[in-house]
Amino acid sequence: MHAESGKAQEQPGAVRKGVDRRALIAGGGAVLAAGVGVGVGAGVVALGRGRSTAPPQPSAAAAAPPFHGERQAGVTAPQQPATLLLALDLAPAAVSDGRGVLRSLLGELTRVLAEAAGGTATDPRLRGGEPAQLSGLVGVGPGLAARLGLNVPPALAELPAFPGDKLEPARGGGDLVVQLCAADRWPLTVVAELLAAAARSAGATVRWTQPGFLPRTPPGTTPRNLFGYKDGTANPDEAAAQQWVWGPPGPYRHGTVLVYRRIRMDTAGFAALPEDRRDLAMGRRLVDGTPLTGTAEHDDPDIYTKNPDGSYVIPNSAHVRLTSPRLDSGARMLRRGYSYDDAPDDRGLLFCAFVRDPEQFIRVQNRLAAKDALNPFLVHTASAVAYVLPGVPEGGVLGEGLWA
Ligand code: HEM
Repeated sequence: MHAESGKAQEQPGAVRKGVDRRALIAGGGAVLAAGVGVGVGAGVVALGRGRSTAPPQPSAAAAAPPFHGERQAGVTAPQQPATLLLALDLAPAAVSDGRGVLRSLLGELTRVLAEAAGGTATDPRLRGGEPAQLSGLVGVGPGLAARLGLNVPPALAELPAFPGDKLEPARGGGDLVVQLCAADRWPLTVVAELLAAAARSAGATVRWTQPGFLPRTPPGTTPRNLFGYKDGTANPDEAAAQQWVWGPPGPYRHGTVLVYRRIRMDTAGFAALPEDRRDLAMGRRLVDGTPLTGTAEHDDPDIYTKNPDGSYVIPNSAHVRLTSPRLDSGARMLRRGYSYDDAPDDRGLLFCAFVRDPEQFIRVQNRLAAKDALNPFLVHTASAVAYVLPGVPEGGVLGEGLWA
């Protein structure tokens, strides 16, 4: 199962005023998100499909995915090659009036993100550049939700400790998690600075930030991770995302849960394995991402196919076996991972997955922690979970459903 972002590719100039944003969100949704159309042009897929004849917008920033909509664009927009994650903590003094502080913080975050995405930010550093394709998302951590009695999905909870975890608390957790994505690093740094200033003025501090990146690949193709494998191939289409990524019908239906893991990778150690061993560890081929049981990248890995000697073609400890939806009643997560490179001995994957229920991640991670063939080359160093709030209509403020 895969997304077909390439089919929806349009030129950047095709973004038009007056596009029905709800149609974009509904029609694009997770299909676009899953498609990993990494590249500036990919940011405007599904727009301008005959819905408007207005001329292209001259402003670079106008080409960004619309900020307003039923779902936050940081999940639904085509994946861009640069990301910056940041977490915010409310000041301890805010506990007595935590809800008031959170309300004003969410108001500020909404304003900054809407202005940056809409091209109306006054900061000169955000003007005059190439289309930034900025999108963002804001999520609420389980700790804050519990402290303030917020209306979040009941399943929202901290993750348990997994075997092998070496988590650095200062790099994970947080009352709020924000993810920014863009065509390059520049707007992320500027917008993060604006968000930090807004946070300070509302009585919050930045807990951690984490930049990440992807190789720029042609729209509709899958970028590789630092092990060299195509990563993001098997992602849910819109129908599967409705069931496994977005909330059930009701107040959370346009929300989802972000699971973030910072995973250090021993890239040199893994590269020292012969290529066939690496392919067996992954269950897919390095050369083109094809599953060991298939002939094309988007063939579904068949974890039950056997060799003549009775062993599985995709071995028992292969990553794509242990993560297979077939072991999990068909459950799928929307993965939008990024690579990171913070130091010569600290590079790896920023695993970012969107799920309806964190249990989906927990089940898979328990299987991986027990016997993933990649484990000798991986260390999980940070973790965060956040309820990604539903989107907002124009004039709205993120988190309006939290107070009910
Ligand atoms: C650094 C660590 C990891 C690396 C290098 C990695 C790499 C990959 C690669 C190359 C694929 C196959 C291509 C694709 O379908 O995207 C894949 C699939 C997948 N991975 Fe990972 N992954 C990592 C960690 C994780 C973690 C922590 C989880 C969740 C607990 C996870 C869940 C999945 C899932 C659900 C699939 C798709 C399985 C399918 O539907 O066939 N991965 N991963």
